[in-house]
Amino acid sequence: MQKIWLDTDPGFDDWLAMLLLSANLDVEWLGVSVVAGNAPLSVTYDNALRIRKHYHLEVPVYAGCEAPLSGAVETAQCILGDDGMATTGEPLPTVDIGQVERELEQQQKRSPLPHAVDALIEAVRRHPGQLTLMCIAPLTNIATALQRAPDIAPQIREIILMGGSADQGNHTAAAEFNIYADPEAADIVFNAGVPLRMFGLNLCRQLLVTATEVQQVRALGTLRAKWLAGYFEAYLRIRSPDGSVPMPMYDPAVAIYLRRPELFSFKPARVDIELQGKLTRGMTVCEFRVPRRAAANVEVAMTVDGERAMACMMQELLGAL
Ligand code: BDR
Ligand code: CA
Repeated sequence: MQKIWLDTDPGFDDWLAMLLLSANLDVEWLGVSVVAGNAPLSVTYDNALRIRKHYHLEVPVYAGCEAPLSGAVETAQCILGDDGMATTGEPLPTVDIGQVERELEQQQKRSPLPHAVDALIEAVRRHPGQLTLMCIAPLTNIATALQRAPDIAPQIREIILMGGSADQGNHTAAAEFNIYADPEAADIVFNAGVPLRMFGLNLCRQLLVTATEVQQVRALGTLRAKWLAGYFEAYLRIRSPDGSVPMPMYDPAVAIYLRRPELFSFKPARVDIELQGKLTRGMTVCEFRVPRRAAANVEVAMTVDGERAMACMMQELLGAL
């Protein structure tokens, strides 16, 4: 069974990815590290704990890095709202963070809980060559772990990440949000020599959700489905006030890949992160002429059978609610 560690910044699409991961019985989900991204760490950590509690996810969650390796925190709150995930309905009920942490400490038989970066390093060392890191957020936690414990790089089985793009960006014309929010961290991760699969915007734009999927969730009628449907509806309204324009699914792409890898195709490339660039900072520059021009360091996801992948996502999601 594939062992998975999730690095995340919930985020509505992170939430979907968490539900898909928990529904996947072919994977052993060992832990979650949370990072600043869609919103500041205090908010993404709070969101992760609320999702964990209300959707019964039996996985330890750890708070990680609050700021990128260099520069100021960049969030997506201007689009997603203060919570990093807006809703048209009832917000997910709050949790007592102190109490959740005490429960986790008891389960882990350790107090206080370790920082997410230390927990991640420990997990890799405990399962040498076996752990896949599923990264759906800025790469600050992962880069910090690689810097703090360089011995773990050859022990990581693979990094599968949502980030970057082989064509246009989203946060800027050139850069995708997760990479833009911490390009220095991405540069460390992409050059660590760890096998890496990149699910960028060019791929995610082939995975589209519409109002029909939101209705399917709402029609389930359970409390958990009702909460999710409100956030789903708000997500669809990012592009159009009435939610009529389909929205790409970002983070769930990686979770669907774990379930149905045969739906995806990849191309090897040399991917470098633009660290300067007045207009292009955070861009993932993809050189596909490998090995002629450069040695490949990434398998770039190029195509997905969008219809089948979305059907798989909805089947798993509805089953998890
Ligand atoms: C990525 O940025 C975040 O807003 C999403 O959660 C996703 O990880 C998409 O660019
Ligand atoms: Ca995310």
